[in-house]
Amino acid sequence: MDVSTETDKSIIVAIDGFSGCGKSTLAKDLAVALAYIHIDSGSLYRAITLYFIRQSVDISQKDSVAKALSFIDLHLTLIDGISAPILNGVNVSNEIKSPAVAQLVSEVAAIEEVRNFLIDKQRNFGKNKAVIMDGRDIGTVIFPEAELKLFITADMKVRVKRRLQELQDKGIDISSVEVGNNLEKRDRIDSTRKVSPLKKADDAIVLDTSGLSREQQLEKAIQYVEDVVNGKT
Ligand code: DC
Repeated sequence: MDVSTETDKSIIVAIDGFSGCGKSTLAKDLAVALAYIHIDSGSLYRAITLYFIRQSVDISQKDSVAKALSFIDLHLTLIDGISAPILNGVNVSNEIKSPAVAQLVSEVAAIEEVRNFLIDKQRNFGKNKAVIMDGRDIGTVIFPEAELKLFITADMKVRVKRRLQELQDKGIDISSVEVGNNLEKRDRIDSTRKVSPLKKADDAIVLDTSGLSREQQLEKAIQYVEDVVNGKT
């Protein structure tokens, strides 16, 4: 289905929620269905974290963080409609999924200088609408004017199972206990940090994906988009 050409009205869809709730999968599927672009904002935080790990940046020191950021050239390139992070000229799509990055990324994403560094990069993608962006503060901070905001939730057991599968598919050897601990740690840091904490926007629709198949969650999201573009909400 191509809602954008059917109605000639393109919108911004903001998808937020905790780690491992299926935000990226839904965002990707929805982008294909609508012929929109998908921006995975978490990949930007992960790419910066990868750089900090490689350069042994002391993230407790503001000066070291600011200096390191000045050496980072980071942008997203669309490959088949899917955004790939290009860090200083190299596509790091695979490297940013490593457990080492997952372990540190929430702490890096809580740093004000890092968030400020990424604000305009993210907002630029909204200029022409027809974009689906997933993250933690998209509906609250990056695109508070987004026409549709979804807040995705899922049971912890389901989240662990999905993330484990995703990592195993990438050939990463990790236990479900490690995955669960990492998700819990990131939930805590992401929702309690001072700058742009993860929270549901007042006007976001909550979508619990625990009992939904990939197709079912996509169907629901498409319905929400249609309601917006047809002026029903
Ligand atoms: O979606 P993800 O798991 O790839 O995100 C990685 C981390 O980046 C996550 O722990 C929180 C942070 N993040 C954020 O703070 N704000 C965003 N808009 C996206 C991600």
